Amino acid sequence: MTDTVNPDPAPAVHFRPITFKTVVEVCKLSDTLSPLHHQMVADNAISIAQGHFSEAAWMRAIYAGDTMVGFIMLHTGLGYDDRIDCPGVFMWRFMIAGLHQGKGYGRKALETLFEHLRATGVPEMYTSCEVGEGSPEGFYRKLGFTSTGKMYGDEIELIRKIAPR
Ligand SMILES: CC(C)(COP(=O)(O)OP(=O)(O)OC[C@H]1O[C@@H](n2cnc3c(N)ncnc32)[C@H](O)[C@@H]1OP(=O)(O)O)[C@@H](O)C(=O)NCCC(=O)NCCS
Repeated sequence: MTDTVNPDPAPAVHFRPITFKTVVEVCKLSDTLSPLHHQMVADNAISIAQGHFSEAAWMRAIYAGDTMVGFIMLHTGLGYDDRIDCPGVFMWRFMIAGLHQGKGYGRKALETLFEHLRATGVPEMYTSCEVGEGSPEGFYRKLGFTSTGKMYGDEIELIRKIAPR
């Protein structure tokens, strides 16, 4: 009989609070994006700074196992002064580091988020994105987002319904 090796070594994706020790690493994730991708999302350092001036920001580092792979920031309330004008939860910033893209981590992160929103009774989540070359629009559509028809400047607004169990 031969020893068997675990055929599914894919690490679980989870969110961890950003700390004094990890904040620089989160900021440096932005340097790993391609120039096109860099145009699609604010620098993490800017997002973290803005998040600290918003009463409605929730931000986390995204990990695959113990490896930091991305950053997410939600807006969880009414925030006209934050230039976010939708009812409920808005995904303000989201990125997966260049080296870790294409491994399913973006999908797993959002599926984890949707499960959490479902469990807490949130019926839908909004986001917005640029369109055209390098845009994450196709990614969002694969994850079940649809267009609302509303614009945020050059960005289209998208909504993802969170069906109750
Ligand atoms: C968009 C982004 C988060 C995707 O993360 P990722 O971890 O590479 O995505 P995944 O590997 O989980 O891909 C999931 C699916 O979406 C597809 N996909 C990924 N990016 C895509 C894109 N830009 N357009 C179309 N489809 C895309 C993948 O092919 C995969 O399809 P499959 O499930 O049929 O195989 C990442 O490319 C990124 O950080 N981009 C730069 C920043 C950005 O645009 N953030 C959003 C700001 S609004």
